[in-house]
Amino acid sequence: MESKDRKILFNEVAAPGCFRLGLEWRSAEVTPGQFVMVRVSDGLDPLLRRPFGVYGVHGGRGKNPLKGNVVELLYKVVGKGTRILSARERNESVNVLGPLGNGFPEAGKDEKVIMVGGGMGIVPFLMLAKKLGDGLLLYGARGKSEAALAKDFKGTACRVKVSTVDGSVGAKGLVTELLEREITKDSVVYACGPVGMLKAATKVAAAAGVRCHVSLERSMACGIGVCLGCAVRAKTHGERENRNYMMVCSEGPVFDSEDIDWELL
Ligand SMILES: Cc1cc2nc3c(=O)[nH]c(=O)nc-3n(C[C@H](O)[C@H](O)[C@H](O)COP(=O)(O)OP(=O)(O)OC[C@H]3O[C@@H](n4cnc5c(N)ncnc54)[C@H](O)[C@@H]3O)c2cc1C
Ligand code: FES
Repeated sequence: MESKDRKILFNEVAAPGCFRLGLEWRSAEVTPGQFVMVRVSDGLDPLLRRPFGVYGVHGGRGKNPLKGNVVELLYKVVGKGTRILSARERNESVNVLGPLGNGFPEAGKDEKVIMVGGGMGIVPFLMLAKKLGDGLLLYGARGKSEAALAKDFKGTACRVKVSTVDGSVGAKGLVTELLEREITKDSVVYACGPVGMLKAATKVAAAAGVRCHVSLERSMACGIGVCLGCAVRAKTHGERENRNYMMVCSEGPVFDSEDIDWELL
């Protein structure tokens, strides 16, 4: 993990209100699910870095999809920091800390991976799909333009099923309803997206008796386990006995869904 100025290679519209940011990065190696903290401005406002998952790593010499010279982020403009970032131009630099966090664990030999992404929750799964060489992505998009991001998975061997609440693209309804239809006894579920979706995915996986790992989002100030601002309440059982809180930045962002106290999230 390092903190460095990274040259912007591209910062272009991917969908309305959503951008792809390419950063020069000599020999990056990233585990799917890891994230970076970006200082979006050279000045003091905003002071805090903003966290973003890694969408892709490109330009490596070999065929390893997790290594390369360009780190790509995919971000939605939701407030001041992301608005400032969207105005940054090619050849400028931004200071970036990372890669940070743990990433998704390996699936068992006989487990079939189902990735469940809601909105920007699709981000960690492009690298994971490339790494796995197969798998199923269930993508809950907000509408047609967001659903178009699914075409990024065309170069992978991963099957993709899209759902939208209004049925304008793919299946009509919630992505967790798709999960209920697709899940089997040999599935393992990896989920990333809004908390409501993660809770529902956890319930569906528990009902099917399979493992579920979720990537959590919290507001983050430091990204390295120092400020304690990203704490979530842990369930006190198993390995985490006697632990009340877990830090999303340094112990996550990916957790076994059984370790989280969902009532307090
Ligand atoms: C580990 C991690 C990975 C992330 N990966 C991505 C990613 O790949 N792409 C992406 O677009 N976003 C991602 N996010 C969310 C992203 O960090 C926030 O959208 C961003 O920090 C908002 O900054 P802002 O200054 O534009 O908005 P602010 O002005 O800080 O907030 C604007 C609005 O967005 C809400 N908001 C702020 N941060 C979050 C958050 N973390 N989760 C939900 N709502 C939030 C605020 O409550 C507020 O309503 C990630 C967050 C985490 C913790
Ligand atoms: S963001 Fe500071 S401890 Fe996690």
